Amino acid sequence: MTQNEAIVVLDYGSQYSQLIVRRVREAGVYSELVRFDADEATIAALKPKGVILSGGPNSVYAEGAPQLPDWVLASNLPVLGICYGLQLQAHHLGGKVAPSNDREFGHAVITITAESPLLADIPSEHSVWMSHGDRLETLPAGWHPIAVSPNSPYAAAADEARRWYGLQFHPEVVHSPYGKQVLHNFIYRICECAGSWQPSQFIQEAVERIQQQAPSGQVICALSGGVDSAVAALLAHQAIGERLTCIFVDNGLLRRGEAEQVSHTFRDHFQIELITVDAADEFLGALAGVTDPEQKRKIIGEKFIRIFEREARNLDDAAYLVQGTLYPDVIESTAPDRNVAVKIKTHHNVGGLPADMKLKVIEPLRMLFKDEVRAAGLALGLPEDWVWRHPFPGPGLAVRLLGAISFERLETLRHADAIFLEELRAAGLYRATQQAFAVLLPVQSVGVMGDYRTYADTIAIRAVSTEDFMTADWARLPYELLAKVSSRIVNEVTGVNRVVYDISSKPPATIEWE
Ligand code: XMP
Repeated sequence: MTQNEAIVVLDYGSQYSQLIVRRVREAGVYSELVRFDADEATIAALKPKGVILSGGPNSVYAEGAPQLPDWVLASNLPVLGICYGLQLQAHHLGGKVAPSNDREFGHAVITITAESPLLADIPSEHSVWMSHGDRLETLPAGWHPIAVSPNSPYAAAADEARRWYGLQFHPEVVHSPYGKQVLHNFIYRICECAGSWQPSQFIQEAVERIQQQAPSGQVICALSGGVDSAVAALLAHQAIGERLTCIFVDNGLLRRGEAEQVSHTFRDHFQIELITVDAADEFLGALAGVTDPEQKRKIIGEKFIRIFEREARNLDDAAYLVQGTLYPDVIESTAPDRNVAVKIKTHHNVGGLPADMKLKVIEPLRMLFKDEVRAAGLALGLPEDWVWRHPFPGPGLAVRLLGAISFERLETLRHADAIFLEELRAAGLYRATQQAFAVLLPVQSVGVMGDYRTYADTIAIRAVSTEDFMTADWARLPYELLAKVSSRIVNEVTGVNRVVYDISSKPPATIEWE
């Protein structure tokens, strides 16, 4: 990125590291997460105006624990240490960090005890999110506490002259309601950033980069119907025009109207060369009789690859493949000490492409977060309802239709799902939930319609609110909305006589039912 300023976040392995970067960017300053041992030239290229040291799972005094690089100690830049970051600062500057019997985890109320630009415009008592085992026992010379909590005499501390600050709590998580203000204070009052970062700035740069990466030859891009591949394709189209061909595989497991919308938006509206592959029969044939969810995923993933290969081979001079990889995926695949749970999620993404494909991969979104991709999508003219679309799993409705898959059952599910989403949108609540959908259960039950006894299918509806899809809560949708959805589904969808609302959170349930 050719920005003029940045806040560099050194990664010590905390599960919240990328959240710090996101918060800084939301505050209007470009930020990147770099390995704690990145070389000085990498850091200098970012033109940092300040450094944040992330939290991490280690103990600073343990053998092999990641330490503070010499360049940080020698630099004149402001430094903010968060949790492990603060302990590192203390450890390297002559303070004392020791193990503690009382792990402090969860909410704590802190009290501001000294005036500091870091805590300006924040109530003197407020709630924060703590998560640490070790404890800071002695501050280094020149430091003084600026906030305390019942368990930490140094909930926040500072060496104001040097502009080094440390927090025992996590300002980047939503459970620290004034955390954004703390980061804002660091960025603007202490690092004196100008704050000119905007995701739309990135468009011109991405376009030029694609032109350099693919100076000639055909470029292909697989559209999934989601926002990431759509934005990646639009950027590529701006960069190389007719040399781009998009491929959309209709696997017959899509929501109602989705295939039509892809072709309408890309072919008719943006006039991008689009190959639509109608592979519904091929997919449904391969899935016939299959009920095991992992088996379904495997079959769909493999089929997709085979069909994509076949289509790509028809474009004989194709040399490049555009993919909508996002920054969180890049971080997960390169960072040290990443927790396993995170990897499980990224790996079950189907739509993965053959490893031996001889196409050079172009990833124009690899430095962006999802909200930034959405902003870029809007700036590129992608329709709003596309930009704000909920994520949809690669295996599609196959994992929302429990039991064996047939075209008829898919149609039942598609119809119920369309009603739910239509009513959710009409109630103005689509964007208030992060994922909402219908599930067709393999359960029939007794009902009564008019004078007749029925024995028919059950639809479950699910809506969740979540920050990161790793944990989620069921959305507290209004009863009136649920009543309307239920009544419309049983009246309008043939073969359904019962609707249930899923009130499970994740964990222990997952978001999808399979
Ligand atoms: P779960 O059900 O694991 O879902 O709580 C978390 C997020 O991942 C999506 N998901 C998938 N996405 N292929 C995908 O591309 C899959 O096999 C898959 N399974 C779940 C899910 O929709 C939710 O957003």
